[in-house]
Amino acid sequence: MPAGNWSAHSGYTWLIMSSLSRFIRGTSLWRRYQRYLKKHSRDSKDAFTARYEYEVSRPEGRKETVCGIGSTMEQTRVARETVARVVREYGIKSMLDAPCGDLNWMKHVPLDGVRYTGGDVVQQMVDENRAKFAGTGREFVLMNIIEDVPEAADLILCRDCLVHLPGADVKRALANFSASGSKYLLATTFPATSQNTDLRFPGEWRAINLQAAPFLLPPPLLLVDEECPDDNGHSKSLGLWKLPL
Ligand SMILES: C[S@@+](CC[C@H](N)C(=O)[O-])C[C@H]1O[C@@H](n2cnc3c(N)ncnc32)[C@H](O)[C@@H]1O
Repeated sequence: MPAGNWSAHSGYTWLIMSSLSRFIRGTSLWRRYQRYLKKHSRDSKDAFTARYEYEVSRPEGRKETVCGIGSTMEQTRVARETVARVVREYGIKSMLDAPCGDLNWMKHVPLDGVRYTGGDVVQQMVDENRAKFAGTGREFVLMNIIEDVPEAADLILCRDCLVHLPGADVKRALANFSASGSKYLLATTFPATSQNTDLRFPGEWRAINLQAAPFLLPPPLLLVDEECPDDNGHSKSLGLWKLPL
């Protein structure tokens, strides 16, 4: 398609998508959904417990993962390689995956010789993981990264979680990771986001750049773009920082 036609085509697509999004946000069903979210989202534990319960009881059956599209095998190719690389190159012998979700992709990461602990705020998820991965050497703990200082580990992985927390809670979680005595933090960050915004309530999503205000983390030791399909220009990445921050 000639360049002129192509940009006209993208302009139409954008116009249609934004009109559709305005239309959906104007419907009473959308407003009811927003009220439902607010009512059931006093904190991230409530929000994610409600989400888990919804995901496991879908009438059409469970999807590949209860953790959303960002946790599918298709979207985590680079994440899987990156975790394996960090474990290898930084001499990691113990790892806290906080939060771990349902391990949809993590269960495929080679972690020989690494003591793996998965932590999550949803009790049912922790119970299910304990049953599913019994006998594999993996341990699971119920934990709230906003409130709990975790046990020390060589590596804390915090993928796809801080994006769902209000800014004040992100700061608390980062302080808890620092206070744990752990050595490294590998966390989701969006370097293409120049200005961070806040959430209206826990459980929503927005891209956050951990190097921008109000978090202001130093330049990471390693920054890997996850090359997620459908990234929409966000450059979702994993950044590695030395702890304490
Ligand atoms: C989008 S999933 C990501 C899971 C996993 N890290 C991955 O990459 O597949 C977000 C997870 O964060 C957990 N979560 C949300 N708030 C949390 C909190 N305050 N403390 C611990 N886990 C939390 C949810 O239960 C859910 O499993």
